[in-house]
Amino acid sequence: MTDTPRIFPRPTHRPELIEFLEARRSNLAKIMSEPGPDAATRDKILEIAARVPDHRKLAPWRFVIFEGEARSSFGQHISAAFMSANPQAPADRAIFEGARLMRAPLVIAVISAPADCPRGTPKWEQELSAGAVCYNMCLAAQAHGFGAQWLTEWYAYDMSVTAALGLQASERIAGFIYIGTAAEAPMARSRPALEKLTSFWSKKS
Ligand SMILES: Cc1cc2nc3c(=O)[nH]c(=O)nc-3n(C[C@H](O)[C@H](O)[C@H](O)COP(=O)(O)O)c2cc1C
Repeated sequence: MTDTPRIFPRPTHRPELIEFLEARRSNLAKIMSEPGPDAATRDKILEIAARVPDHRKLAPWRFVIFEGEARSSFGQHISAAFMSANPQAPADRAIFEGARLMRAPLVIAVISAPADCPRGTPKWEQELSAGAVCYNMCLAAQAHGFGAQWLTEWYAYDMSVTAALGLQASERIAGFIYIGTAAEAPMARSRPALEKLTSFWSKKS
C-alpha cells in the first residue's frame, strides 16, 4: 500500500467506465475459484475500497483479510456457532458451514467501526460510508478482472462469530466480500422501474 502522489483530472467522459457500471453484476461466491488477486493487487483493491466519501475523514471502518488456511480456521468458528444454535442439524451441515469462506480464494470482512465523533458526524453517515467501502471493493476487484460478491449471510449477525472476529460492541460487520475468479458470466437480473422510485419535487402553492 503506497502513498503515491496522484494527478486529479477534471471529470471526463469515460465510455468504458459507463459500460462497466451499466452492466455491473455480482458474481456468485459459490462458483468462484482460484486464482485470487496476488498481494499487490489485493492491496490495490483495499486502497481503492477505502477511497470513499467519509464525512470528517473518520475512516469508520476496518478490514479483516482471510486467505489460505485462515479461511478454514475461521470457518471452525462459523461451524461451531451454527451447530450450537442448531444442535439437531446433521453432521454434514457442520462441514458445509465450516467451508463457507473456502468458496473464494480471498474474503475480506469489512467492519463498520463508527467513531464517537465529538464534532457530530452521525453514526448513520459513518455506517453508510462502510457500505460505500463494500461496494467500492467489489468494483475495484471486478475492474482488476476478478469476480466479487458482497455477502452477510447469517454469520455476520451471530454474536459468537463476531466475538471470534474481535468486534467491539460499537462495531458491526458491513459485509464479507468474496473475491476470486468468476467461473461464469452472471445472468441478467431484473432492475427496479426507476419511474416508480423517482419523483420531481415541486413546491405546491
Ligand atoms: C449488505 C448486503 C448484504 C448482502 N448479503 C447477501 C447474502 O447474504 N446473500 C445473498 O445471496 N446476497 C446478498 N447480498 C446481495 C448480493 O451482494 C448481490 O447484490 C446480489 O446477489 C445481486 O446481485 P447484483 O449485485 O448483481 O445486483 C447482499 C447485499 C448487500 C448490500
